[in-house]
Amino acid sequence: MSLSRRGAFLALAIGFGLAACQAPAPPPTEADQVYRNTCLLCHTGSATGAMAPDLTTLSVANGGTFPTDAVSAIIDGRRGVRAHGSPMPVWGARYSSDLVHELTVYLASIQR
Ligand code: HEC
Repeated sequence: MSLSRRGAFLALAIGFGLAACQAPAPPPTEADQVYRNTCLLCHTGSATGAMAPDLTTLSVANGGTFPTDAVSAIIDGRRGVRAHGSPMPVWGARYSSDLVHELTVYLASIQR
């Protein structure tokens, strides 16, 4: 192999190497899927709220800090919004506390 051909080969190999390093989009997390399959029904895909509140402005509404504990409590039902006739279902009995936590982290990640 001549020097220039070797150079071209190396450049190609490096190019492929770099292309291979570009990680594909991460697979959807469980929270992501639950959000799409469940929460989305009321909160809509962009989470900006159709018949339910906008879930991308929870931080803004809380003075710029994501209200982690309050959100977890709303999702798992500890926060007694149901007592006020809230149509928001309680998920605590259906989801593990890990999943409620992941959903909370997911919501924190989609704040505007
Ligand atoms: C049946 C419709 C419905 C579904 C499904 C639903 N929600 Fe809600 N959600 C509501 C409604 C209505 C409210 C507003 C009343 C209230 O606060 O309870 C609400 C409120 C909330 C709030 C509080 C918003 C705020 O402004 O404080 C959070 C957080 C939330 N939902 C998260 C979720 C998550 C996460 C899921 C999926 C596991 C989900 N919701 C599924 C109807 C729904």
